[in-house]
Amino acid sequence: MQELIISPSILSLDYSKVSEQLDALNHSGAKWMHFDVMDGHFVPNLTFGPDILKGFKKASPLVMDVHIMVDDPQMFAEVFMKAGADIVTFHLEAVENIDACVKLCRKIRSMGGKAGVSLKPNTPVDALLPVLEELDLVLIMSVEPGFGGQSFMAHTLEKVIILRQEISQRNLPVHLEIDGGINRNTAKQAILAGCDVLVAGSYVFKQDIRTGVQSLLCAAQS
Ligand code: DX5
Ligand code: ZN
Repeated sequence: MQELIISPSILSLDYSKVSEQLDALNHSGAKWMHFDVMDGHFVPNLTFGPDILKGFKKASPLVMDVHIMVDDPQMFAEVFMKAGADIVTFHLEAVENIDACVKLCRKIRSMGGKAGVSLKPNTPVDALLPVLEELDLVLIMSVEPGFGGQSFMAHTLEKVIILRQEISQRNLPVHLEIDGGINRNTAKQAILAGCDVLVAGSYVFKQDIRTGVQSLLCAAQS
């Protein structure tokens, strides 16, 4: 089993206390920072542009885990790579077909990034299985993308189980990340199903940040 990584989603950060919360995040035990980009079209919400990423990058040593929920991933993957993303994850539903998906993964890798592909809760996993070698990460959405604070959809773990089996059998270095409704209890279920990266927004930021991250890190043991 790979090391468990926590990627707190700064969508839930309290923007009236940015530097205080960022400092806490930097010392929380989290290795990644999850940066949700929404364009108001692919999802009915609007969030951060590339200059905000540049600012966070300057203020934090964490790996920048950028999740783009946008209609035009080709354009925005490049924009966010140039702004300092370490990982860019786009949605399979936003590209024309699997060839376009592979092409974009190669582009992200050619720019020095890690390439991730995300699936909404009701998108099947089958199309991704033959191209897993092209990816560094699969992000399973366990809520409909767009907003923090929603309830975990347990049926999405079926896809995690299938992916983990495939990744282990083929001995691939692909991360399995889950996003949406993660708390201590759902974290445990996700880890058991085979996830090695947990995104958590409201659970981490609605309590002492370090305590939240540490309790997720311990979820596997309890
Ligand atoms: C939702 C975002 C998530 C969100 C998770 O579209 O992709 O990253 O911030 O928030 P919680 O953990 O509160 O469900
Ligand atoms: Zn996300």
